[in-house]
Amino acid sequence: DAVERGEYRHYMQKEIFEQPQAVANTLEARLGPHGVLPNIFGIDSEGLLQAARGLHIIACGTSYHAGLVAKYWIEEYARLPVSVEVASEYRYRETVVPADTLFVAISQSGETADTLAALRESRRRGYLGTLAICNVPESSLVREADLKLMTRAGPEIGVASTKAFTTQLAALALLTLELARRHGLDPQRYAALCTELQHLPRAIENALQLEPAIIDLAAEFIHRQHALFLGRGVQYPVALEGALKLKEISYIHAEAYPAGELKHGPLALVDETMPVIAVAPNGPLLDKLKSNLQEVRARGGRLIVFADGTAGMDDMAHHGAMLRVASGGSFIAPAVFTVPLQLLAYHVAVLRGTDVDQPRNLAKSVTVE
Ligand code: G6P
Repeated sequence: DAVERGEYRHYMQKEIFEQPQAVANTLEARLGPHGVLPNIFGIDSEGLLQAARGLHIIACGTSYHAGLVAKYWIEEYARLPVSVEVASEYRYRETVVPADTLFVAISQSGETADTLAALRESRRRGYLGTLAICNVPESSLVREADLKLMTRAGPEIGVASTKAFTTQLAALALLTLELARRHGLDPQRYAALCTELQHLPRAIENALQLEPAIIDLAAEFIHRQHALFLGRGVQYPVALEGALKLKEISYIHAEAYPAGELKHGPLALVDETMPVIAVAPNGPLLDKLKSNLQEVRARGGRLIVFADGTAGMDDMAHHGAMLRVASGGSFIAPAVFTVPLQLLAYHVAVLRGTDVDQPRNLAKSVTVE
């Protein structure tokens, strides 16, 4: 065990630091200098991806959050409608499946009972085809889906998923690009997005350098009971993932909100005992997010802002903690900004003395309903 963990104290920490390599492996021989290589989803994939007029994405837990990011990406770049649902809901309700909809299941293990049941149920509902995005090649999910794209995260031991998530995002970015190319994205924009994605391992490497600053920050959380995570647009699912990580391993109650919803409820919770963590890369919504954060500040909430390497948020820095993350571009930013949130959850949990790799009441793979 200690040998496998090497220099790291926990598997989770090791797996966080393996992300540049895991993401590079997931992109390797799939993303070439001119774009996504042919047939990476399987020999018969071309026709199905060409014919797709929409997607239904189904998953659980962290994999569900990856699906939510993909919705923002695919709707923006490929202009195809996407719905994302947790598998335990999907399997028991009557969904409407428009013609030529592709069913996509995302799962680290490929054995999650609800996700597998959803895949099986989808056969009855008349989809164009099914695609599994999964980390375990010999899993049931991969065996049963028509198309597959393996994440190459390697074994993930920590119950709280980290490198599985960022490699799912890498795989979903490839899916986005492939769909976008086939459904009319401007070739120059396509090329620019491919270049951005090529740089994802490097951008994650840079984000990992924040660890010492995050260790300092984590000390503030030792006696906290609640935390609120805010993001807007594609960073909202990142906020959800940050909150999930914190609650899973530190047992601090954490919630995530799209920052524009703050005024519709959670603002009532904000006082000087409430840390508010904002994921705030540059982008068209940054000014709106800033005004949401002013509301938090006005109520004495402690702000912790993860902002882009450049410009934008300096005025916020005077009222809390500001950490700079070079996003590497707006396409890959969700994967990059996830990393400091993983580190924050990890170091808070270490300071609180929980069983980081095996948090109470949780299992790595939930194979019963
Ligand atoms: C469990 C794990 C989570 C994981 C979820 C879905 O709850 O603790 O980390 O995200 O299952 O697992 P899957 O293998 O389907 O991605």
